[in-house]
Amino acid sequence: MAKFEELAATIRQQITAGVWQVGEKLPSLREQTFQSGMSLMTVMHSYQILEGQGWIISRPQSGYYVAPKAEFLSVPKAQNRMAHIGKVDMNAYIFDILQTISDPDIVPFGSAFPDPSLSPLSQVTRALAAVAREITTAELLDYLPPGNFSLRSAIAKRYAQAGVNVSPDEIVITAGALESLNLSLQAVTKPGDWVVIEDPCFYGALQAVEKLGLNAVSVTSDPQSSIDLAALADVLASTEIKACWLMTNSQNPLGYTLSIEKKRQLAAMLEQHNVVLIEDDVYSELYFGQEKPKPAMAYMPQRNSLHCGSFSKSLVAGFRIGWVAAGNYAEEVKKLQLMSTLSTSVPMQLALAKYLSTQNYDRHLRGIRKTLEQRKNLAWQCLKKHLPENVIINYSASGYFLWIELPAAVDASRLCAIMLDHHVSIAPGNMFTTGGDYNNYFRINVSYPWNSREEEAVMRLSSEIRRLENPENIFGYNK
Ligand SMILES: Cc1ncc(COP(=O)(O)O)c(C=O)c1O
Repeated sequence: MAKFEELAATIRQQITAGVWQVGEKLPSLREQTFQSGMSLMTVMHSYQILEGQGWIISRPQSGYYVAPKAEFLSVPKAQNRMAHIGKVDMNAYIFDILQTISDPDIVPFGSAFPDPSLSPLSQVTRALAAVAREITTAELLDYLPPGNFSLRSAIAKRYAQAGVNVSPDEIVITAGALESLNLSLQAVTKPGDWVVIEDPCFYGALQAVEKLGLNAVSVTSDPQSSIDLAALADVLASTEIKACWLMTNSQNPLGYTLSIEKKRQLAAMLEQHNVVLIEDDVYSELYFGQEKPKPAMAYMPQRNSLHCGSFSKSLVAGFRIGWVAAGNYAEEVKKLQLMSTLSTSVPMQLALAKYLSTQNYDRHLRGIRKTLEQRKNLAWQCLKKHLPENVIINYSASGYFLWIELPAAVDASRLCAIMLDHHVSIAPGNMFTTGGDYNNYFRINVSYPWNSREEEAVMRLSSEIRRLENPENIFGYNK
């Protein structure tokens, strides 16, 4: 590559990465000559090329600036900087949708939580009442990070039952998986580092990347074929990646679980490139088959990974108890937790430790898996019966979500707004991406009992999809 092309490529990359932002002035020709050690002619030539390609514009008497359209130029989708998603205010958007979940008048198809009535609340609160009676004031200060030993030991036993070797010493108890995932990401990165996320992915990952000032490369994932490992291999070979934040079991929102073979390949790839795996495994207990799927971390002999779990989805949401099996990063995670939330609620830790010391959790899990599978099948049949034929319903044999693909003309965000007027929520595809390629997708929560209210909601959904598909019918809407 000629020198001027090299310089042009470097500047293009810098613009893509946000080093130079839209409207910002680039170094003058003279400054660039000095910085790059190239001749004035070479630098001029580079700037001319970039101007011709639309990346920069020149202003007479002033210099060169990053062109407004630069952010739309051929930034490969897989290399978008998170700064580019500033256009979507993820937090406000997600907040609005999550708000609807607590409204009992709304059919909560958009909810991220399983039907709360599936929680064995009386058993868990009985455990809480018992520990509240026994707890001493001294004990209330006893469980700073990494948290209560009995609870960590109970979690380590569950790993052992699944054939994964984790010591209680590696486990840090957190306020749900959201805290464990955020602490994990913070423990292994510094601002400006590059990380890999899936596209589409759990919106918590997008928010964490944004909050920590990281750059993200998104790797396309698909409900049938799961994560594109060839694309991931390309990314790992071409970019210095610090960590991959992935879901290998019951991916949210798509629902897929990676095969053992794919988990092995993923693990080998990450170990080869010395990239840390942050594995979000919050739905791992909600499988429908005979055997609990192992996490990808089980196939990483060097264990350069942090595995995050939670009781929010499988037991009770409001207790806010999760954990991370942080391996070699446990010390760092503990330090970060001490400096942020200090520790996880002691009574809740003790209550869960007590509850887990019985057989009740396994009994409850057997029941909830069966119920979720039945409800998912009922939902599937109902959606099949009522939704237009050109709507694709992606089935997954775990968890409680279905991922729906609408005809290309139907905007799921608009459908979401219209359905809220009918007291039905859905989770539109835009919540799970920064690329905006999932406008015509949505996620539906099927964990609730499938009664006439749900069937009517699906019928309404169906008629609104038909209307949105047919543009002449949508003038009546003011949304
Ligand atoms: C994929 C995924 N990861 C993590 C979380 C957060 O879990 P917790 O409630 O334990 O913080 C959620 C919650 O919706 C989730 O869907």
